[in-house]
Amino acid sequence: MFRTHTCGSLTAKNIGETVTLAGWVQKIRNKGFVIWVDLRDRYGITQLVFDTERTDASVLENAKSLGREFVVQIKGTVIERESKNLLMPTGEIELLVSELTLLNASKTPPFTIEDKTDGGEDLRMKYRYLDIRRNPVKQNLIFRSQVAMAVRNYLSGEGFIEIETPYLIKSTPEGARDFVVPSRMNEGQFYALPQSPQTFKQLLMVGGMDKYFQIVRCFRDEDLRADRQPEFTQIDCEMAFVEQEDILNAFEGLTRHILEHTKGVELEKFPRMTYDQAMRKYGNDKPDIRFGMAFGELTEVAQGFGFPVFDGQELVVGIAVPNGAEMTRKEIDELTEWVKRSQVGAKGLVWVRYQADGTLKSSVDKFYNTETLQKWAEKTAAKTGDMILIMAGNADKTRSQLSDLRMELAKRLGLRNPEIFAPLWVVDFPLLEWDEESGRYHAMHHPFTSPKPEDIPMLETNPGKVRANAYDLVLNGNEIGGGSIRIHDKSTQQRMFKLLGFSDEQAKAQFGFLMDAFEYGAPPHGGIAFGFDRLVSILGGQETIRDFIAFPKNNSGRDIMIDAPATISEEQLDELNIALTLKVKK
Ligand code: AMO
Repeated sequence: MFRTHTCGSLTAKNIGETVTLAGWVQKIRNKGFVIWVDLRDRYGITQLVFDTERTDASVLENAKSLGREFVVQIKGTVIERESKNLLMPTGEIELLVSELTLLNASKTPPFTIEDKTDGGEDLRMKYRYLDIRRNPVKQNLIFRSQVAMAVRNYLSGEGFIEIETPYLIKSTPEGARDFVVPSRMNEGQFYALPQSPQTFKQLLMVGGMDKYFQIVRCFRDEDLRADRQPEFTQIDCEMAFVEQEDILNAFEGLTRHILEHTKGVELEKFPRMTYDQAMRKYGNDKPDIRFGMAFGELTEVAQGFGFPVFDGQELVVGIAVPNGAEMTRKEIDELTEWVKRSQVGAKGLVWVRYQADGTLKSSVDKFYNTETLQKWAEKTAAKTGDMILIMAGNADKTRSQLSDLRMELAKRLGLRNPEIFAPLWVVDFPLLEWDEESGRYHAMHHPFTSPKPEDIPMLETNPGKVRANAYDLVLNGNEIGGGSIRIHDKSTQQRMFKLLGFSDEQAKAQFGFLMDAFEYGAPPHGGIAFGFDRLVSILGGQETIRDFIAFPKNNSGRDIMIDAPATISEEQLDELNIALTLKVKK
């Protein structure tokens, strides 16, 4: 037997037993007459002891030549420790070693492999396998596996079937660029890696599978952020013979199950908000509702007083910062500079202090009397001791800028508590969004999303106003899932492609297979996909998904451990019939 126990399992109960362990040398303390070694494996750390009195001279000699991260197998007797460490499960015992086998030596690792490390991000990415030996990374991966297990348990119990769909496919537009793979056997042709299994899961519904799920890798060539990776994982789901309400209930059930089984958190029924309400109230389609600071619209009560910054603007809108009245002029100036940065792009801030004595003092006292300021306080739900911050301008832009400010203030005030989980369904998304660059409408979710039946007459007359049967699941201000009820008849799907600027030929060439399927008894269907990496990282109290992926890419989309992407040989290019001309941008 290679080992009888793991490095995390021995306690005072095992005192007197002879055991065999295997693992990595984490730390060595050599006092000459006695050597202590911390031996680590996935399960924990056990202290080993070698000493001149009790250990065989040759074993002691071998122990002296051990180094950090050497791999050893040891046999020994469990004894009581003199100085106990009650913070560790194995802290009451140590192992008096009688046999030591060196399984493999190690170079000195480039950073310390302990909970707190001296390694920078790049170094840890290059030696990711060493980083994975550290508790924080290891625990994240174990947690990820537990969440996946909870998902499989719940969905299987609800009758969902896990089905794999292909990775070498034709492009499915989800709004990002495709990663493409050249085909050797089909000269000049390319596969695309799926941005999601969207069309396949719909075809599985046409195939009568009724309830499908898959924990599946998706590929999107888009700009990277903390919550985005070029390859990421979805919990992808689809159901037949359902309405939106069925989907929301089914996946609220899944989310509740996950939280209960991985975090021990029981959630109330999830609140819902329309897209329109979310934008008006929070300036954001994924509002963080762990805290207030909802928007108060002031346009009607702030214009017509001769204040040129507000007059004539499409929207005047404010938020009340809890207990913000104490903010100094310097702090307000700093916030004003913050919103003026190009990333936010606001012109400035107007402030109103709701002072402790109930009086109101503002930066625009010249234009507004107390009665008006009082109205602003009511609209922003400000209380005594709060500070009202106000912006004005184009409605969409101003809402988005105020939303940035709201999130920044929440961060500064410590209101984004990672131990609190606030889910929210955002429903009734617009079907289409106007794209300035291409001068046409794009599908806001994807082209297979069905318009609300009552809005269908507006498809040609006022497309921008048409709402979709589309919904997002938001958790703590992050979009962790999105889905829709699908179009399941050929003529609506054709109408949709037309609206999106596809000619009949283009639609047929790209999606002929789906339109054909719709002619063979496609059932009404709908579904959702969760961003698995995002879900896991938020449950883990963080928002950087990289920390929850075993081998992630860096911000330039590179795997710096294996050094990918990389050039390929002339022979490989020839085989693929690719003549490479690199356009190097100056
Ligand atoms: P959508 O494009 O909204 O929907 O994606 C679903 C969820 O996947 C996550 N996500 C990402 N996570 C990490 N890195 C990325 N680059 C990334 N892109 C998206 C988000 C998002 O909510 N086929 C549809 C689903 C459906 O209609 O059923 C789809 O893919 O959390």
